[in-house]
Amino acid sequence: MKRAVILLGPPGAGKGTQAKKLEAKYGLPQISTGDILREEARKGSELGKKAQAIMDRGELVSDQIMMDIIRERVALPDCARGFILDGFPRTVRQAEMLDRMLNGSVRLQAIHLLLDEETLVRRLSGRRQCARCARLYNVYASPSPSDGRCQACGGTLVQRSDDREDVVRTRLEVHRRQTEPVIQYYQSRSHLKHVDGDGDADEIFRRIAAVVEAV
Ligand code: AP5
Repeated sequence: MKRAVILLGPPGAGKGTQAKKLEAKYGLPQISTGDILREEARKGSELGKKAQAIMDRGELVSDQIMMDIIRERVALPDCARGFILDGFPRTVRQAEMLDRMLNGSVRLQAIHLLLDEETLVRRLSGRRQCARCARLYNVYASPSPSDGRCQACGGTLVQRSDDREDVVRTRLEVHRRQTEPVIQYYQSRSHLKHVDGDGDADEIFRRIAAVVEAV
């Protein structure tokens, strides 16, 4: 049966970092709705322009737009064995629409990454991303990129416009109000495991892999 891993957790919890590790280990594609919206913004599409303004305020793009993006993405051939959702669903309505779309054809495992707020804010303020290959870095981590260049491809490292501290506070509040109910949604359907998101990224990945392999 096809499977989907859903990574849940507040901004900065490490969903993107861990999704990339899951993709590398299990060969399932990472579907990051944030990356898809940022790519649209980079291309200058109508959707991208609208989404960028919403992201810069730290608010959520509409459920229907997000669902259309997901429907199109999971229909691509690389999702034939399954996929990893990073940043979706983010509202209970998105979770319900996802359930209706999959209609029981995919085994879901939701993983909730837990981390305290102080660490989240520090991680987000230190995050840098390669503008070319999207590899993630953090100025507080070791080894940190000292020359502002990606160690993998030499691209320029940039800070996301929504990682400013005032926008981060809004994103955390939006998460509490709109996304925490999604955690209850999966908990009540026995699809959810909580994983401690603090510590070394490889150690956290071992905790996640243990959950994925237990299913
Ligand atoms: P999105 O891109 O999904 O952002 P997010 O959920 O706020 O999550 P982040 O990407 O900020 O954090 P993360 O948990 O992936 O952490 P990461 O691994 O990068 O969404 C952006 C916007 O798009 C939303 O605000 C919304 O407007 C819109 N959007 C997207 N999806 C939507 C949806 N479904 N519905 C409506 N709107 C939607 O790590 C963070 C940093 O910490 C990095 O620097 C990393 O290197 C570092 N780090 C990671 N792990 C560790 C570790 N173990 N130790 C030390 N440092 C670490």
